[in-house]
Amino acid sequence: MTIPVITFFNNKGGVGKTSLVYHLAYILAEMRVRVVAIDLDPQANLTAAFLSEEELESLWETPEPVSTIFRAIAPLSAIGDLREPDLRRISQDLYFLPGDVSLSGFEETLSEVWPASMGDSNHYRPFRILSSFWQIAQMAGKKVEADLILVDVGPNLGAINRSVLIASSHVIIPLGADLFSLQGLKNLGPTLRTWRTAWKKRIDNWPNPEFDLPKGEMQPVGYICQQHSVRLNRPVKAYDKWINRIPGVYREAILQQETVDLRPEEDPLCLATIKHYRSLVPMAQEYRKPIFFLTPADGAIGSHANAVKEAYLDFQVLAKKIQAAVGFSNVLK
Ligand SMILES: Nc1ncnc2c1ncn2[C@@H]1O[C@H](COP(=O)(O)OP(=O)(O)OP(=O)(O)O)[C@@H](O)[C@H]1O
Ligand SMILES: [Mg+2]
Repeated sequence: MTIPVITFFNNKGGVGKTSLVYHLAYILAEMRVRVVAIDLDPQANLTAAFLSEEELESLWETPEPVSTIFRAIAPLSAIGDLREPDLRRISQDLYFLPGDVSLSGFEETLSEVWPASMGDSNHYRPFRILSSFWQIAQMAGKKVEADLILVDVGPNLGAINRSVLIASSHVIIPLGADLFSLQGLKNLGPTLRTWRTAWKKRIDNWPNPEFDLPKGEMQPVGYICQQHSVRLNRPVKAYDKWINRIPGVYREAILQQETVDLRPEEDPLCLATIKHYRSLVPMAQEYRKPIFFLTPADGAIGSHANAVKEAYLDFQVLAKKIQAAVGFSNVLK
């Protein structure tokens, strides 16, 4: 069986992809959904969120053989094959496969084999390389009997992200309420369609594959509006202007449907509006935990304590919506 892979994707930077993957991974694990989170952004921000300075140092300076995603795929750049990755167990149902700044070097290998996968011969190697993220993600998921795989990526439309999206059964799009996010959304739809079609052609070009391949569904689940990306001094009216255009642009650009006149809070495809968590963000970073796990001992008292509770409930609602849309089950079921 194939484990669902959800990627949080937007080529616009700073829209909260990494924070979302981090918080959702924790809340889903709380709900007894077994999760593998994977950092496929060469900036490795998710890895810095999950691991302490000391852990990062030992991970990258004196690495174990297969301790990062890059180390699991690196042999492919020579004559070797993929290696089963070592996962970090973060909590009972949360596992993590760390990222690696060296992953950026794989961009070139992926670009090189992209045309070769449409050739007439020697399919094995190009397909092994192009599907390597999917192979590793599935290997990791099966190893720990995961219900779900969550992936964080960098903000670009390069060859690494193309391969990550090919590995994704589902896509969630985090957005800010501004012109840049809206323009980004307009690019994303055609890009996803191009990648889907190009991968389908490639699969058809290798009718008897020697190993399993991803289907490259990249099914859009919905979008998540981020309030933090809006400058605090901007008038509410400016925020409203952009946010209210999102439901229509999402339908046109991503789903190729007619535009609608809806506000995001009325739109079933708006999975959540994430609040600006203000001072809880540095607090949570200092204690290296999700915002909703902050305690009075960490300094979350008074109105902060309420915001922590609300964050917990908000993320739980979001996780349940994603669960309903994607249809994965819980460990206990
Ligand atoms: N809900 C929030 N409230 C306040 N700050 C937030 C919130 N979500 C994210 N941030 C902050 O905004 C910044 C960008 O968020 P994040 O790194 O998650 O975005 P990203 O899309 O992963 O960025 P990149 O494109 O660089 O990978 C970070 O400093 C993060 O701490
Ligand atoms: Mg990020």
